[in-house]
Amino acid sequence: MTFPERDSLAPLSIEPTCRIEFGPGRLGRLPELIAATGHPRAFVVTDRGLRTAGVVDRLLKVLNVAGMEYAVHDEISPNPSTGDVDAGAARARRFGRAAVVALGGGSVLDAAKGIALLVGNPDARAADADALWEAADGLPLVAVPTTSGTGAETNGFGVIEDTAACRKVYLGHASVKPGVALLDPELTLGLPAHVTAATGIDALVHAIESLASRGASPVSAAHATQAVAMVGRALPAAYRDGSDLDARAELMMGAHLAGQALTLSGLGLVHGIGHALTAHTGTPHGVALAAVLEEVMEFSAPDAAGAYETTARALRLDPPSDGDWARAAIGAVREISGAVDVKRPLRELRTTRQLLPSVAAGAVTDPVTRNAPRQPTEPQVLELLRSAY
Ligand SMILES: NC(=O)c1ccc[n+]([C@@H]2O[C@H](COP(=O)([O-])OP(=O)(O)OC[C@H]3O[C@@H](n4cnc5c(N)ncnc54)[C@H](O)[C@@H]3O)[C@@H](O)[C@H]2O)c1
Ligand SMILES: [Fe+2]
Repeated sequence: MTFPERDSLAPLSIEPTCRIEFGPGRLGRLPELIAATGHPRAFVVTDRGLRTAGVVDRLLKVLNVAGMEYAVHDEISPNPSTGDVDAGAARARRFGRAAVVALGGGSVLDAAKGIALLVGNPDARAADADALWEAADGLPLVAVPTTSGTGAETNGFGVIEDTAACRKVYLGHASVKPGVALLDPELTLGLPAHVTAATGIDALVHAIESLASRGASPVSAAHATQAVAMVGRALPAAYRDGSDLDARAELMMGAHLAGQALTLSGLGLVHGIGHALTAHTGTPHGVALAAVLEEVMEFSAPDAAGAYETTARALRLDPPSDGDWARAAIGAVREISGAVDVKRPLRELRTTRQLLPSVAAGAVTDPVTRNAPRQPTEPQVLELLRSAY
């Protein structure tokens, strides 16, 4: 098997993403990781759900023991908005020079990047996102993910809802790519099963779309293949028993590797459709992806044979008697998605038939779709959406 097939030996230049600190109990290292940024104090960005779950208190205990000065901002909403980022930045500016510690899922990590960037640019607002890519550096960021899904700790941008302009903006800068990813699976033990399922499927899709991406390279494929193996094995186990620390750890590392992979390669049509579905219906990211994953794989299979064979082998499937690895991979993905009860027909996700053309239009114009192995037309996406309805 030779994979990836496209330009596999094309010249490459890849920067390492971030320092990884992984393992149960690693949260205890947080004070020294903050100090290593050159700032002796921390501005902690998080959300109310993590407060309620007791995760914020665990982190503050570690900072208190170390005698570190900090402030906490816990007002980030799911799918954060420019308003969330501006409000957080106003508080962070008042607190002054500090490392930003992002404690949460993708929503918090994304918002924290914007907050860190705005502190370095005192006159800017989150809605200036397009101009901020060339702006001054932001504060250094330490990422502490509490979901195993987005891989947002591997890149320097966030997807933020510009509520006034009714559009998603990419708010980011090289300086706010987290310098450290502190991956402590103990922090995910209390994640509710349905969130484990949705975020875990997000990670699986990252790995599969990365393998099949037009931007795939030997380096991204190495990360993605390992991610498929780890997420495929650990997700059903972590869903069945949320207190299984081994499964939580494997899922967390798998999701991180999938993040590394997608940051190098880009993604594809599952995300193109997923973004449009979430924008129109508010469906959580992972649930939107799961709704169309197998359908997109079937559509893409003619141009993704090598990627799907790699997926199937990473999932430890026996060679299919008819040699059809793509069909085997799609069957295995259906099984995982069924085991964590995350796939819903579109009609159950506040999607009407009248809405489908807008979703199809959004999916083909989303830049993420440009890396899809088989470029879809709008009528093809519409047909695919109807089959998932
Ligand atoms: N920057 C990127 O590369 C990137 C990639 C994909 C998605 N995203 C963004 O990430 C966001 C989705 O992130 P997500 O899927 O991680 O969900 P999320 O951050 O929105 O969190 C979902 C819910 O789970 C709760 N939660 C999180 N961790 C918990 C824990 N350990 N225990 C108990 N409750 C917990 C939160 O309080 C929240 O209510 C979206 O805004 C999406 O646009 C960013
Ligand atoms: Fe995703």
